[in-house]
Parts: sequence; structure tokens; C-alpha cells
Amino acid sequence: MRGVRLVSSVSATILAMLLLFLSAAADTYTVVPRPLAPSPAQFSSAARDLGNSDRGKVVFEKRCSGCHAPDENREGPSLRGVFGRRSGEIANFEYSPALKKAHIVWSEETLERWLTDPDGLVPDNNMDFRVAKSQERQDLIRYLRDGLGK
Ligand code: HEC
Repeated sequence: MRGVRLVSSVSATILAMLLLFLSAAADTYTVVPRPLAPSPAQFSSAARDLGNSDRGKVVFEKRCSGCHAPDENREGPSLRGVFGRRSGEIANFEYSPALKKAHIVWSEETLERWLTDPDGLVPDNNMDFRVAKSQERQDLIRYLRDGLGK
């Protein structure tokens, strides 16, 4: 008789563990609806809408104006109208040979890459500067696209 009781209490324990396991498993596999991951195209249009021209002007003055002005060349070329233009096109500015022959069109995508890592986009170019913060890059690109305040 004792043997039977032992077997039944062991099987009750196993049953309880099994139920516990099953309910935990059910929790694990509950399907939570998630939005689909955005495609790269959605990323760039989202980034476009995140930029703010007024903030971009402030960032430009802080980070770029040491080398760039809208309408005159300094250490870097003048930048008004740069959005949509080909790289290396300011006639009286002495570009690096690398940027001169890069033939990039400055867009959201190319400016994003340039400002993140100029050497990654155009090895051996002469702009020794990068913008680490994504928000600052977006604001700058918006400001450049909006014509630097004109
Ligand atoms: C330390 C000086 C320096 C700073 C700071 C700097 N640049 Fe430049 N930039 C340059 C130089 C030099 C070039 C030309 C590079 C070459 O010829 O390879 C250049 C080129 C560029 C070009 C390409 C222009 C063209 O006509 O193709 C863009 C766009 C640009 N810079 C944007 C910016 C922005 C926006 C900032 C601020 C975040 C910035 N730069 C900060 C020196 C600088």
C-alpha cells in the first residue's frame, strides 16, 4: 500500500510540474503583435522629417562656421545651394583631388554619410571634421536644404 501512495504522490508532483511548465510555456509563446520593421526608405524619410532648420542654424554656427560661411570660402567652400548640387563645384575653391573627382550629388543620404564620416564617403578628402549626433546631422541637413536661411 505504501508503494502505491508513493507512486501516486510522485505522479501528482510530476503532473503539477508539467502543468506549471505548460502554463509558463503558454506565456512564452503568447503572440504580441509588433509593427513591421521600417524599410531603409522609411528611415530616411523619417530622418528628413526630424530635422529642424532653426536648430540646424544654431548647430551650423557652433560647428561649421569656423570653416564655412554661406556665401564666401573659408577653410571650407561656401555652402549656400550645396543641397542638390554636385560635390566640388565652387569654382574658386581649391578642393582636394579626392572630392573633386567624387561626383557626389549632395542629398539627405550623401550629406548624412559625409557628416557622419567624411573619410568613409570620400577617402583622402580635406574636411577633418565629423558630427557625432544624429539629431544634429538631421537639423544641419534640413538647414542646408532650406538654403541656409534664405
Ligand atoms: C575644420 C574645418 C571644417 C569644418 C569644421 C567643417 N568643414 Fe565642411 N569642409 C571643409 C573642407 C576643407 C572642405 C573641402 C574638402 C575637400 O576639398 O576635400 C569641406 C567640404 C564640405 C562640403 C562639400 C562642399 C562641396 O562644395 O562639395 C560640405 C557639404 C560640408 N563641408 C559641410 C560641412 C558642415 C555642414 C559642417 C558643420 C558640421 C562642416 N562642413 C564643418 C572644412 C570643414
